[in-house]
Amino acid sequence: MELEGHVALVAGGSAGIGAHVARLLVREGAQVIISGRDTERGKGAAAKIAGESGDVRFIAADLGDLHSIQNLADQSGEVDILVNNAAGAPTGLTADQDVASFQNMFDTNVRATYFLTELLAPAMLAKGRGSIVNVAAMGASMGVAGASGYSATRAALMSLTRTWAAEFGPQGVRVNSVTPAPVRSGSAGVEWGEALVGDLHGREPTAGAQEIAEAILFLASPRARYVTGSTLAVDSGAAAT
Ligand SMILES: NC(=O)c1ccc[n+]([C@@H]2O[C@H](COP(=O)([O-])OP(=O)(O)OC[C@H]3O[C@@H](n4cnc5c(N)ncnc54)[C@H](OP(=O)(O)O)[C@@H]3O)[C@@H](O)[C@H]2O)c1
Repeated sequence: MELEGHVALVAGGSAGIGAHVARLLVREGAQVIISGRDTERGKGAAAKIAGESGDVRFIAADLGDLHSIQNLADQSGEVDILVNNAAGAPTGLTADQDVASFQNMFDTNVRATYFLTELLAPAMLAKGRGSIVNVAAMGASMGVAGASGYSATRAALMSLTRTWAAEFGPQGVRVNSVTPAPVRSGSAGVEWGEALVGDLHGREPTAGAQEIAEAILFLASPRARYVTGSTLAVDSGAAAT
Protein backbone atom coordinates (compact mmCIF):
# COMPACT_ATOMS: atom_id res chain seq x y z
CA MET A 1 0.00 0.00 0.00
CA GLU A 2 2.00 2.94 -1.27
CA LEU A 3 -0.11 5.78 0.16
CA GLU A 4 -0.12 4.81 3.84
CA GLY A 5 0.36 7.95 5.92
CA HIS A 6 -0.96 10.17 3.11
CA VAL A 7 -4.09 12.31 3.45
CA ALA A 8 -6.00 12.94 0.22
CA LEU A 9 -8.84 15.33 -0.55
CA VAL A 10 -10.97 14.52 -3.59
CA ALA A 11 -13.13 17.56 -4.31
CA GLY A 12 -16.29 16.13 -5.85
CA GLY A 13 -15.46 12.67 -4.58
CA SER A 14 -19.03 11.73 -3.73
CA ALA A 15 -19.94 10.55 -7.25
CA GLY A 16 -18.65 9.65 -10.71
CA ILE A 17 -14.93 9.75 -11.44
CA GLY A 18 -14.15 11.26 -8.04
CA ALA A 19 -15.74 8.38 -6.15
CA HIS A 20 -13.64 5.92 -8.16
CA VAL A 21 -10.50 7.93 -7.39
CA ALA A 22 -11.38 7.89 -3.69
CA ARG A 23 -11.82 4.11 -3.80
CA LEU A 24 -8.37 3.63 -5.37
CA LEU A 25 -6.73 5.97 -2.87
CA VAL A 26 -8.29 4.00 -0.01
CA ARG A 27 -7.05 0.76 -1.59
CA GLU A 28 -3.53 2.23 -1.45
CA GLY A 29 -3.89 3.02 2.25
CA ALA A 30 -4.56 6.78 2.10
CA GLN A 31 -6.83 8.57 4.53
CA VAL A 32 -9.42 10.09 2.20
CA ILE A 33 -11.71 13.11 2.38
CA ILE A 34 -14.44 13.51 -0.23
CA SER A 35 -16.62 16.57 -0.78
CA GLY A 36 -19.86 17.49 -2.50
CA ARG A 37 -22.98 19.57 -1.91
CA ASP A 38 -25.44 16.76 -1.22
CA THR A 39 -24.79 15.60 2.35
CA GLU A 40 -26.92 12.49 2.24
CA ARG A 41 -25.31 11.25 -0.95
CA GLY A 42 -21.85 12.21 0.29
CA LYS A 43 -22.18 10.36 3.60
CA GLY A 44 -23.54 7.31 1.80
CA ALA A 45 -20.66 7.41 -0.67
CA ALA A 46 -18.09 7.77 2.13
CA ALA A 47 -19.47 4.71 3.93
CA LYS A 48 -19.51 2.69 0.71
CA ILE A 49 -16.00 3.71 -0.33
CA ALA A 50 -14.61 3.03 3.15
CA GLY A 51 -16.00 -0.52 3.14
CA GLU A 52 -14.79 -2.58 6.09
CA SER A 53 -11.61 -0.80 7.00
CA GLY A 54 -11.03 2.32 4.88
CA ASP A 55 -10.73 5.78 6.40
CA VAL A 56 -13.08 8.07 4.46
CA ARG A 57 -14.66 11.30 5.65
CA PHE A 58 -17.26 13.40 3.82
CA ILE A 59 -17.26 17.21 4.09
CA ALA A 60 -20.19 19.11 2.60
CA ALA A 61 -19.09 22.06 0.46
CA ASP A 62 -20.54 24.15 -2.35
CA LEU A 63 -17.52 25.06 -4.42
CA GLY A 64 -19.41 27.88 -6.07
CA ASP A 65 -19.18 29.69 -2.73
CA LEU A 66 -15.89 31.12 -1.39
CA HIS A 67 -16.87 30.72 2.30
CA SER A 68 -17.68 27.09 1.68
CA ILE A 69 -14.25 26.61 0.04
CA GLN A 70 -12.56 28.14 3.09
CA ASN A 71 -14.58 25.86 5.36
CA LEU A 72 -13.64 22.80 3.27
CA ALA A 73 -9.95 23.71 3.53
CA ASP A 74 -10.21 24.38 7.28
CA GLN A 75 -11.97 21.10 7.98
CA SER A 76 -9.63 19.12 5.76
CA GLY A 77 -6.47 20.36 7.48
CA GLU A 78 -3.14 19.43 5.92
CA VAL A 79 -3.40 17.17 2.89
CA ASP A 80 -0.70 15.43 0.83
CA ILE A 81 -2.85 14.83 -2.25
CA LEU A 82 -5.46 17.18 -3.72
CA VAL A 83 -7.65 16.04 -6.61
CA ASN A 84 -9.51 18.99 -8.11
CA ASN A 85 -12.32 16.99 -9.67
CA ALA A 86 -15.64 18.77 -8.99
CA ALA A 87 -17.19 20.60 -11.92
CA GLY A 88 -20.47 21.69 -13.40
CA ALA A 89 -21.41 20.21 -16.80
CA PRO A 90 -21.76 21.98 -20.20
CA THR A 91 -24.64 24.44 -20.35
CA GLY A 92 -25.40 24.68 -24.08
CA LEU A 93 -24.74 26.72 -27.19
CA THR A 94 -23.00 30.09 -26.92
CA ALA A 95 -25.96 31.87 -28.52
CA ASP A 96 -28.21 30.64 -25.70
CA GLN A 97 -25.80 31.17 -22.77
CA ASP A 98 -27.12 33.24 -19.83
CA VAL A 99 -24.78 35.20 -17.61
CA ALA A 100 -25.78 33.55 -14.31
CA SER A 101 -24.99 29.98 -15.36
CA PHE A 102 -21.79 31.13 -17.11
CA GLN A 103 -20.69 32.79 -13.87
CA ASN A 104 -21.61 29.76 -11.80
CA MET A 105 -19.68 27.49 -14.16
CA PHE A 106 -16.51 29.57 -13.84
CA ASP A 107 -16.94 29.93 -10.06
CA THR A 108 -17.25 26.18 -9.56
CA ASN A 109 -14.88 24.94 -12.23
CA VAL A 110 -12.07 27.51 -12.08
CA ARG A 111 -12.33 29.87 -9.10
CA ALA A 112 -12.89 26.99 -6.65
CA THR A 113 -9.92 25.03 -7.98
CA TYR A 114 -7.75 28.13 -7.78
CA PHE A 115 -8.63 29.11 -4.22
CA LEU A 116 -8.85 25.59 -2.78
CA THR A 117 -5.33 25.07 -4.12
CA GLU A 118 -4.22 28.42 -2.74
CA LEU A 119 -5.47 27.36 0.70
CA LEU A 120 -4.06 23.82 0.70
CA ALA A 121 -0.78 24.14 -1.19
CA PRO A 122 1.13 26.09 1.52
CA ALA A 123 1.14 23.12 3.93
CA MET A 124 2.41 20.87 1.14
CA LEU A 125 5.13 23.37 0.29
CA ALA A 126 6.16 23.64 3.94
CA LYS A 127 6.42 19.83 4.17
CA GLY A 128 8.30 19.62 0.88
CA ARG A 129 5.96 17.04 -0.60
CA GLY A 130 2.55 16.90 -2.24
CA SER A 131 0.69 16.09 -5.40
CA ILE A 132 -2.15 17.99 -7.04
CA VAL A 133 -4.17 16.52 -9.90
CA ASN A 134 -6.55 18.71 -11.88
CA VAL A 135 -9.32 16.90 -13.74
CA ALA A 136 -9.86 18.69 -17.06
CA ALA A 137 -11.51 17.25 -20.20
CA MET A 138 -10.81 16.52 -23.87
CA GLY A 139 -12.89 19.54 -24.80
CA ALA A 140 -10.14 21.77 -23.38
CA SER A 141 -8.25 21.40 -26.64
CA MET A 142 -11.03 20.49 -29.09
CA GLY A 143 -13.90 22.48 -30.53
CA VAL A 144 -17.09 20.96 -29.13
CA ALA A 145 -20.38 22.66 -30.03
CA GLY A 146 -22.46 23.26 -26.91
CA ALA A 147 -19.54 23.17 -24.51
CA SER A 148 -17.99 26.64 -24.90
CA GLY A 149 -17.91 27.79 -21.27
CA TYR A 150 -17.27 24.31 -19.90
CA SER A 151 -14.39 23.64 -22.28
CA ALA A 152 -12.87 27.04 -21.46
CA THR A 153 -12.93 26.15 -17.76
CA ARG A 154 -11.19 22.82 -18.51
CA ALA A 155 -8.54 24.63 -20.59
CA ALA A 156 -7.97 27.02 -17.68
CA LEU A 157 -7.06 24.05 -15.48
CA MET A 158 -4.44 22.92 -17.99
CA SER A 159 -2.90 26.39 -17.86
CA LEU A 160 -2.99 26.46 -14.06
CA THR A 161 -1.34 23.02 -14.04
CA ARG A 162 1.69 24.39 -15.91
CA THR A 163 1.95 27.56 -13.81
CA TRP A 164 1.59 25.75 -10.50
CA ALA A 165 4.14 23.12 -11.55
CA ALA A 166 6.58 26.00 -12.08
CA GLU A 167 5.63 27.76 -8.84
CA PHE A 168 5.45 24.72 -6.54
CA GLY A 169 7.99 22.36 -8.14
CA PRO A 170 11.09 23.77 -6.44
CA GLN A 171 9.50 22.92 -3.06
CA GLY A 172 8.63 19.32 -3.96
CA VAL A 173 4.98 19.68 -4.93
CA ARG A 174 3.94 18.17 -8.26
CA VAL A 175 0.94 19.36 -10.29
CA ASN A 176 -0.54 17.46 -13.23
CA SER A 177 -3.84 17.16 -15.06
CA VAL A 178 -5.83 14.55 -16.95
CA THR A 179 -8.07 15.05 -19.97
CA PRO A 180 -10.62 12.25 -19.93
CA ALA A 181 -12.90 11.15 -22.76
CA PRO A 182 -16.63 11.16 -22.00
CA VAL A 183 -17.42 8.60 -19.34
CA ARG A 184 -19.95 5.85 -20.10
CA SER A 185 -21.96 6.43 -16.95
CA GLY A 186 -21.71 10.25 -17.03
CA SER A 187 -24.26 12.75 -18.32
CA ALA A 188 -22.36 13.34 -21.58
CA GLY A 189 -22.17 9.60 -22.23
CA VAL A 190 -22.23 7.78 -25.51
CA GLU A 191 -23.46 10.62 -27.74
CA TRP A 192 -20.48 12.85 -26.87
CA GLY A 193 -18.10 9.91 -26.90
CA GLU A 194 -19.02 9.09 -30.45
CA ALA A 195 -18.70 12.72 -31.53
CA LEU A 196 -15.34 13.28 -29.82
CA VAL A 197 -13.52 9.97 -29.81
CA GLY A 198 -15.23 8.30 -32.77
CA ASP A 199 -14.75 4.67 -33.66
CA LEU A 200 -11.57 4.91 -35.75
CA HIS A 201 -9.20 1.98 -35.38
CA GLY A 202 -11.63 0.22 -33.08
CA ARG A 203 -11.35 2.85 -30.35
CA GLU A 204 -14.01 2.76 -27.67
CA PRO A 205 -16.03 6.02 -27.76
CA THR A 206 -16.42 6.23 -23.99
CA ALA A 207 -14.27 5.48 -20.98
CA GLY A 208 -15.09 3.75 -17.73
CA ALA A 209 -14.77 6.03 -14.69
CA GLN A 210 -12.39 3.43 -13.26
CA GLU A 211 -10.05 3.87 -16.25
CA ILE A 212 -9.87 7.62 -15.64
CA ALA A 213 -9.37 7.06 -11.92
CA GLU A 214 -6.38 4.77 -12.51
CA ALA A 215 -4.60 7.57 -14.41
CA ILE A 216 -5.36 10.05 -11.63
CA LEU A 217 -4.05 7.61 -9.01
CA PHE A 218 -0.81 7.25 -10.96
CA LEU A 219 -0.27 11.03 -11.11
CA ALA A 220 -1.18 11.40 -7.43
CA SER A 221 1.18 8.68 -6.27
CA PRO A 222 4.96 8.69 -5.80
CA ARG A 223 5.23 6.47 -8.91
CA ALA A 224 4.89 9.71 -10.87
CA ARG A 225 7.64 11.40 -8.86
CA TYR A 226 9.36 12.61 -12.06
CA VAL A 227 6.13 13.89 -13.65
CA THR A 228 4.94 17.45 -13.14
CA GLY A 229 3.33 20.13 -15.28
CA SER A 230 1.96 17.49 -17.62
CA THR A 231 -1.46 16.63 -18.96
CA LEU A 232 -2.24 12.97 -19.40
CA ALA A 233 -4.85 12.27 -22.08
CA VAL A 234 -7.10 9.38 -21.06
CA ASP A 235 -9.08 9.15 -24.27
CA SER A 236 -8.19 5.97 -26.15
CA GLY A 237 -5.84 7.93 -28.42
CA ALA A 238 -8.24 10.62 -29.63
CA ALA A 239 -5.75 13.39 -28.79
CA ALA A 240 -3.26 11.83 -31.17
CA THR A 241 -5.45 12.29 -34.23
N1 LIG B 1 -18.18 12.48 -16.97
C1 LIG B 1 -17.52 12.73 -18.10
O1 LIG B 1 -17.89 12.27 -19.19
C2 LIG B 1 -16.27 13.59 -18.05
C3 LIG B 1 -15.45 13.67 -19.19
C4 LIG B 1 -14.31 14.45 -19.14
C5 LIG B 1 -13.99 15.13 -18.00
N2 LIG B 1 -14.80 15.06 -16.91
C6 LIG B 1 -14.41 15.81 -15.71
O2 LIG B 1 -14.35 14.89 -14.63
C7 LIG B 1 -14.73 15.55 -13.42
C8 LIG B 1 -15.80 14.73 -12.72
O3 LIG B 1 -16.89 14.57 -13.60
P1 LIG B 1 -18.03 13.47 -13.31
O4 LIG B 1 -18.84 13.35 -14.55
O5 LIG B 1 -17.44 12.25 -12.71
O6 LIG B 1 -18.90 14.27 -12.25
P2 LIG B 1 -20.25 13.86 -11.51
O7 LIG B 1 -20.52 12.40 -11.63
O8 LIG B 1 -21.30 14.82 -11.97
O9 LIG B 1 -19.86 14.19 -9.99
C9 LIG B 1 -19.44 15.50 -9.70
C10 LIG B 1 -18.94 15.57 -8.28
O10 LIG B 1 -18.65 16.93 -7.99
C11 LIG B 1 -19.55 17.43 -7.01
N3 LIG B 1 -19.93 18.79 -7.38
C12 LIG B 1 -20.50 19.21 -8.52
N4 LIG B 1 -20.71 20.54 -8.47
C13 LIG B 1 -20.28 20.95 -7.26
C14 LIG B 1 -20.26 22.20 -6.60
N5 LIG B 1 -20.74 23.32 -7.14
N6 LIG B 1 -19.74 22.25 -5.36
C15 LIG B 1 -19.25 21.14 -4.77
N7 LIG B 1 -19.25 19.93 -5.34
C16 LIG B 1 -19.78 19.84 -6.57
C17 LIG B 1 -20.71 16.45 -7.00
O11 LIG B 1 -21.38 16.40 -5.75
P3 LIG B 1 -22.75 17.24 -5.48
O12 LIG B 1 -23.59 17.10 -6.72
O13 LIG B 1 -23.34 16.61 -4.27
O14 LIG B 1 -22.30 18.62 -5.25
C18 LIG B 1 -19.98 15.14 -7.26
O15 LIG B 1 -19.34 14.68 -6.10
C19 LIG B 1 -15.15 16.96 -13.82
O16 LIG B 1 -14.07 17.82 -13.58
C20 LIG B 1 -15.42 16.87 -15.32
O17 LIG B 1 -15.17 18.08 -15.97
C21 LIG B 1 -15.93 14.30 -16.91
